[in-house]
Amino acid sequence: MLSSLVAGYGHAFPSRIVTNDDLSKTLDTSDSWVTSRTGIVTRRIAAKEDSTASLGARAAENAMAAGQCAANDIDAIILATTTPDHPMPSTAAKIQSMIGARKAFAFDVQAVCSGFIYALSIADHFIKGGAVKNVLVIGAEVMSKVLDWTDRSTCVLFGDGAGALLLQAKETSDRGEALPIARGVLSTHLFSDGNFYDMLYVDGQATSSNPCGVLKMNGRAVFAAAVEKMVESSELALAHNQLQLNDIDWFVAHQANKRIIDAVAERLGIPEEKVIITVDKYANTSAATIPSTLSIAASERRILPGHTLLLSAIGGGFTWGAAVLKW
Ligand code: ACO
Repeated sequence: MLSSLVAGYGHAFPSRIVTNDDLSKTLDTSDSWVTSRTGIVTRRIAAKEDSTASLGARAAENAMAAGQCAANDIDAIILATTTPDHPMPSTAAKIQSMIGARKAFAFDVQAVCSGFIYALSIADHFIKGGAVKNVLVIGAEVMSKVLDWTDRSTCVLFGDGAGALLLQAKETSDRGEALPIARGVLSTHLFSDGNFYDMLYVDGQATSSNPCGVLKMNGRAVFAAAVEKMVESSELALAHNQLQLNDIDWFVAHQANKRIIDAVAERLGIPEEKVIITVDKYANTSAATIPSTLSIAASERRILPGHTLLLSAIGGGFTWGAAVLKW
């Protein structure tokens, strides 16, 4: 039986750190408001030379280095992003060129903040179907370019960055065991409900008269839906794998807001020490939050081989989903 094992991980952020105090110089906000409502203390903001492709390529190169995989051996690049460098072609194609993965096919996935779970699911199905061996699954965003920097209710929430996993096809019973050992991506569960389309969106259209807009959000509706949907999909993922909460080593949720993550963990009954938080330093980097958080926690040797991870996200659409991963 083929499984999608995590063979490498990487992350990349712009170097510029913007604090809440920095924002309060131009906005009617304060460090105490932002920290108490969201848990966000700082975020990274892209410089002119940074792009979704350049951040994604750096994260991908780190993942390939960690997995000792040459660019030529990459079969597919799946990029989750809601801030592509251009409406066309895909930013994944640009990353392919930057990292020199000449044999790979490459495309973008747009499911906003749930994008990484969607991309992971697609990669896992390609691998389990036997179509590919080495897949880069990337989440990369330059959210700062779709923010209204005069709107204090949205611009304080987001940041820029990227994370990547290298997934590798492995026969899980290739060591002669009687039963296959469950490793890698155990399951993914995806959902959408377009009735919530206007709760969280970027206005404008990708046309020459109105090339792009800015992010608009109904914060309270997003908060309520986030808690409900992330709890629902997480419970479904656990039940699907016949896992109890005790079997989970780490809960890695989309890092939108610490209060949302705390509420979801509490509703699920996951203790604080099993919840990984990076939103304090990097804010909400949309599709990049889960892969960058995985990479940071693995680099810090908090996530270790053999650990069982519950992932969960929600994003504009609404889209949402969960996954269970054995690292
Ligand atoms: N600084 C100071 N005051 C602010 C700020 C700010 N940055 N932003 C809003 N306020 C003010 C509002 O103007 C309002 O003032 P008023 O009462 O005079 O009108 C007051 O604070 C309360 O506003 P609310 O929107 O009711 O504040 P709330 O307590 O709901 O917190 C927040 C807002 C943090 C956005 C919350 O609704 C939330 O966390 N929502 C989830 C949104 C989220 O995380 N989105 C991320 C993208 S979605 C995703 O990734 C899944």
